[in-house]
Amino acid sequence: MPMDLLIKNIKQLVQILEPGKRWVAGSEMSKLSLIENSWISIRDGHILDYGPMHLCPKVLEDEIDASGRVVMPAFCDSHTHLVYSGSREQEFVDRIKGLSYEEIAQRGGGINNSAIRLRKASEDELYEEALLRIKEIISQGTGAVEIKSGYGLDTESELKMLRVIRRLKKTTPITIRSTFLGAHAVPPEYLNNQDGYVDLIINEMLPRVTAEGLADFADVFCDRGFFTIDNTSRILEAAAQYGLRAKIHANELDFSGGIQVGVKYNSLSVDHLEYTGQEEIRSLTGSGTMPTLLPGAALFLGLIWPPARAMIEAGLPIALSSDYNPGSSPTGNMMLILSLGCICLKMLPEEVIHAATINSAYAMGVESELGSITRGKRANLIITRPVSGYSFLPYAYGSDLIERIILNGRIIENK
Ligand code: NIG
Ligand code: FE
Repeated sequence: MPMDLLIKNIKQLVQILEPGKRWVAGSEMSKLSLIENSWISIRDGHILDYGPMHLCPKVLEDEIDASGRVVMPAFCDSHTHLVYSGSREQEFVDRIKGLSYEEIAQRGGGINNSAIRLRKASEDELYEEALLRIKEIISQGTGAVEIKSGYGLDTESELKMLRVIRRLKKTTPITIRSTFLGAHAVPPEYLNNQDGYVDLIINEMLPRVTAEGLADFADVFCDRGFFTIDNTSRILEAAAQYGLRAKIHANELDFSGGIQVGVKYNSLSVDHLEYTGQEEIRSLTGSGTMPTLLPGAALFLGLIWPPARAMIEAGLPIALSSDYNPGSSPTGNMMLILSLGCICLKMLPEEVIHAATINSAYAMGVESELGSITRGKRANLIITRPVSGYSFLPYAYGSDLIERIILNGRIIENK
């Protein structure tokens, strides 16, 4: 069969799944399917075939020798805010000196600080800044990314952010899904009037966003000090009427009921989940809502760790994502997130690989085309540097272990 590219002599071809598998949960997460000493072929941007070396097809050109290297699916990062203007290292310093994330937000810093800058930036400036971040995360092994609005907080600025995301979708080789997060914080114009701001989201923002087809999902920061359960319900109901499935921020700061409301409205994912107890685990069990953990934010803000082990032991799946944003996780490095999953959440290397590939693909609605080594899926692959095996990847945290990235069957030359 003709092919465009063959990768051969692969030490471990990792994360092979049968077609139709949408996520991996519970005790299954500790089992990773792989072939040692193997090959994989690519045609028309998709995975054509793979197998052990003694069955390797012969080609004369366009082959890569991956001796000593792991080949695995590129990461899917299902939760980021990577369109933003400037940075917030002053707040980082304030937190080192003892202020909390919520105290900084209450003083007008935090998300509203980023909103002031974003409102002033032009669409072109925002695009150029975000493009650098996209190039950076591709070089770190990410092949699909979800990006949220939520630093505009007025109709025109939210639309501006979403148009930047649309432009990134068209101009970059990475797969992008966009999420409308008007309910990220209450802007100063609506101080002490959260209900009024939610009216604006429902009556003006959502209709405009959906009329332009700018969002794939809707999000709400549902937590103590941010959006209430009642207002979250109102937004999720309205979003459903406009055909947008939800992915919400929940239970980062307290047992705020966010997980339950997310499940009630059939959200695709609920994200953060530091405050997760038995009741929250029960509500997630049997739902189609992917629990998504963001250990970069928990590390950066010094939060408690979400109970990943209890969730897996209860049979739940877990996705891992970076939360790349200027306030609580200024990195999109998914290899680092894998290490944090192992070191801080006590997840096994096999579990973090499932969590950052097929499960995070599900959490952004791309699991039928990405997130595993499966014939017919898009060829978004990572080829590592020579390593002892896949467990070395989260172990050697801080090392750059990625040698090549392949997106849509093409080698990306930006390393
Ligand atoms: O996911 N938790 C809410 N939103 C972001 C933080 C955004 C910011 O601080 O700019 C998060 O952590
Ligand atoms: Fe977030």
